[in-house]
Amino acid sequence: MGAHEIEPWYFSPYPVEFSDADMVFVCEFCLSYFAEEKSFSRHRAKCQLFHPPGNEIYRDQDISFFEIDGRRQRTWCRNLCLLSKLFLDHKTLYYDVDPFLFYCMTYRDAYGHHLVGYFSKEKESAEGYNVACILTLPQYQRKGYGQLIIAFSYELSRREGKLGSPEKPLSDLGLLGYRAYWQRTIVDLLMGDNGEPRKEANVEELGALSAMTTNDVLHTLQNLNMLRYSVCLFSFFTHIYYACSAQHYCRC
Ligand code: ACO
Ligand code: ZN
Repeated sequence: MGAHEIEPWYFSPYPVEFSDADMVFVCEFCLSYFAEEKSFSRHRAKCQLFHPPGNEIYRDQDISFFEIDGRRQRTWCRNLCLLSKLFLDHKTLYYDVDPFLFYCMTYRDAYGHHLVGYFSKEKESAEGYNVACILTLPQYQRKGYGQLIIAFSYELSRREGKLGSPEKPLSDLGLLGYRAYWQRTIVDLLMGDNGEPRKEANVEELGALSAMTTNDVLHTLQNLNMLRYSVCLFSFFTHIYYACSAQHYCRC
């Protein structure tokens, strides 16, 4: 794929004639796949696509995000799902892409917009998920792109006026990536704008500011060991304290 030779991690249901191929050649722009280098080269010579087939909705220098509708670009999105299944163990979406939008992150050079990673999102999620599948292609992993892709998914939720959470179950890598993002986001919010730690914080407020669900905020605070549970003497409700330095704060 492009300049990269990538070892797949898991099974993906490419057509049966590919099962004997030593190498699968994937066009990095239209994501078509070929079992023979000759037919791949022929395709590359005439392929007209230089970016994902959707609207470019964000650009910062050489990084862009494209929004692609699964119903309008069925073949491209199916090709993307086949490709990403090679690196996802537990997701089963390859065929019915119509109910999803795909947000693809690319970096641009003289040749075009190269796919780095993406997330898919249900157009209507009954459970309030803001991400169905998320992937950074292996050749771009551990460079911080995953954090940017996750941040983008939350920015969309914020603009929709909703709180979001990724579809469960998360993979091991998904959990590591999300935990890193959640912790960084919550700690940044607790530090406040002027670098002075906030003395008081409210879980709902942290959720609204980050577009994270209250549940994810609570779990993150728990992982950071920042929650103290106590029964307040002035009311019979259990209050959540968060510990900053040595002091505990109660909101009532
Ligand atoms: N080992 C340990 N920690 C890791 C690893 C790893 N292999 N990968 C990511 N992390 C953690 C680290 O804390 C890392 O920060 P650091 O590099 O500063 O230590 C942090 O996550 C962020 O890493 P990024 O570089 O931003 O993440 P990346 O671009 O690699 O993408 C992702 C993360 C998308 C989960 C990637 O690993 C991936 O595509 N995995 C395969 C597909 C997958 O499992 N997707 C999630 C499925 S769940 C779902 O779809 C809802
Ligand atoms: Zn092509």
